[in-house]
Amino acid sequence: MSAALLRHPRLISLEGGEGAGKTTAINAIHACLRAHGHEVVLTREPGGTPLAERIRALVLKPDEAIAGEPLSAEAELLLVFAARAQHVRQVIQPALRRGAFVLTDRFTDSSYAYQGGGRGLDATWIADLERRVVGLLPGLTLLLDVDVETGRARANGRDLWPDRIESEQDDFFQRVRAVFRERAQQDPQRFALVDASQVQQQVAADVVARVEQFLHNGEGA
Ligand code: TMP
Repeated sequence: MSAALLRHPRLISLEGGEGAGKTTAINAIHACLRAHGHEVVLTREPGGTPLAERIRALVLKPDEAIAGEPLSAEAELLLVFAARAQHVRQVIQPALRRGAFVLTDRFTDSSYAYQGGGRGLDATWIADLERRVVGLLPGLTLLLDVDVETGRARANGRDLWPDRIESEQDDFFQRVRAVFRERAQQDPQRFALVDASQVQQQVAADVVARVEQFLHNGEGA
């Protein structure tokens, strides 16, 4: 694969911290794209293929046989990129080639935020993997932004069994949020920042408005 990044107009990603309301928002975007008559492949990361879903389980919910072995930040990064390599080749590229939209719950920005910001890994390493392994940038990235306390309060109410990453401390999530916001600021053409502290229906309405605007401007060609 070439080492350049192609921004694809039919690839849309949704990003955000814990408890940002991604599920309601992504279902609303899905319905919106379908109402415009588009084929939509709804998918997620880490995951989206059988193998990538297995990798997701290794990263987020390791079973008893391996749960006692600490997962290094470097291994975590390489695992999420291994999952992404499969996802891009097995699902995303074929869908884009046949003219479908791909709507993904998280993409490479999450690696910058969680493994770069949260774990403190070097962003140039992540950028190198992105160019070599992914090669694609979303045409539109919706970032659901909410302060860490509010997001965690929501997530805690929902998750009885927090996963490896949900079990991190607030300072980890502060760094995650800071990187997401920084990336959105650096690339306002691609990112739409949505205030996710609002009630979920309003968040969903805001993201749909941003998608409608994106389609209207002919960006989602
Ligand atoms: P979620 O889809 O329920 O938000 O869970 C996915 C978790 O995986 C979330 O805590 C963020 C984390 N993650 C990474 O750490 N790096 C990545 O590259 C991706 C896609 C997700």
